[in-house]
Amino acid sequence: MSLNVLESSKVIVCLGTGGVGKTTAAAALGYMAAKAGRHVCVVTIDPAKRLADAMGIAEIANTPKKIQTSSELDLWAVMLDPNSTFDELVQKFATSEKQVEKIFHNSIYQNLTENLSGTQEYMAMEKLHELASDPRFDLLVVDTPPARNAIDFLNAPNRLIGFLENRFFRLLISPSQSVFRPVTFATRMLLRTISKVVSAQVVSDAVEFFQAFEGMEAGFKARASEVQNLLSQDSTSFVLVTGTHKDTVDEAIYFASKLDEFKLQVNLIISNRITPYFGDDFDTEQVLYPAGFRENLEYLTKLRSAELVQLSRLSVIASGDSHIVVPLLPHDIGSLSEIQEIGEVLVNSRSTYDNSVSP
Ligand SMILES: Nc1ncnc2c1ncn2[C@@H]1O[C@H](COP(=O)(O)OP(=O)(O)OP(=O)(O)O)[C@@H](O)[C@H]1O
Ligand SMILES: [Mg+2]
Repeated sequence: MSLNVLESSKVIVCLGTGGVGKTTAAAALGYMAAKAGRHVCVVTIDPAKRLADAMGIAEIANTPKKIQTSSELDLWAVMLDPNSTFDELVQKFATSEKQVEKIFHNSIYQNLTENLSGTQEYMAMEKLHELASDPRFDLLVVDTPPARNAIDFLNAPNRLIGFLENRFFRLLISPSQSVFRPVTFATRMLLRTISKVVSAQVVSDAVEFFQAFEGMEAGFKARASEVQNLLSQDSTSFVLVTGTHKDTVDEAIYFASKLDEFKLQVNLIISNRITPYFGDDFDTEQVLYPAGFRENLEYLTKLRSAELVQLSRLSVIASGDSHIVVPLLPHDIGSLSEIQEIGEVLVNSRSTYDNSVSP
């Protein structure tokens, strides 16, 4: 195994914009690490159906399942359910069963993962925190949801805490000191005014929501800083997955700059789905090829060259030997052997990279 991140990491986080191949990369990296003898769990979110089937995790479950492989690898996977992860968290930090009930029945809470952007990202990090102390695994490969931007993912814990600490609602519910002034006259007037703008139900649900979470922010806060801490360990690696076209390369560079703001760095770049290299030793003068062959070959060669020009811009993020280029395969990735196929490219990438970038 020649891929550094697979040898040295305890956690690998796969990042990238929508559809670039994060889930595929996470599965392939996990597979190859397990093949090299590591005890791996792939934490994935919303994988394509065939991939989920291949990994045997078609059902959402919050506990890891061992993947059935012919070679008995110690490879596990879990398809994260952000809602029930959040439920578990509430149960952990709530001070009473009554508080749990109150939160579970609140309409704002029930729609929280849709209402509060970044919740899915936060829950992925939360699950990571939990699995990091699971003795069955020595490597966790985390797939992330298609974040609209890097901040969503990295800021998720802070955003959630900020939300729970919302000063405006804190004011409305008058926090713990409220023994002395449960709901003041001024607060009642304020509530009445707001209720004219948004529905009274929304306001009372919101007030109830923040009331229900009363006293839990400390637990969430401590947890979030533990998660941040885990992310900044040397044994945590960030794999940035990109496409080969200008827009995804732009996004990858932006992503890396955001990671940098959080003092995190990209350990590996995987540029997925490059037009394959078809070779250049076709003697079209001497050999009779089918009509259009030369034009098609020229077209594909040009396409690939243009893609390589884009990918060379990624050298500002990582050096050549931590940049892997994966060819576009003529099929979807939806079986263990196809995951392995991508994995082999990743692990034996040197030659791929060499002939990709300096043909
Ligand atoms: N190298 C490749 N060649 C051919 N198909 C690929 C390759 N890599 C990924 N795919 C296919 O592309 C699709 C998207 O891949 P994947 O689901 O891994 O992306 P993602 O970044 O996780 O997407 P999302 O942001 O929606 O979670 C899948 O159908 C997958 O099988
Ligand atoms: Mg995905």
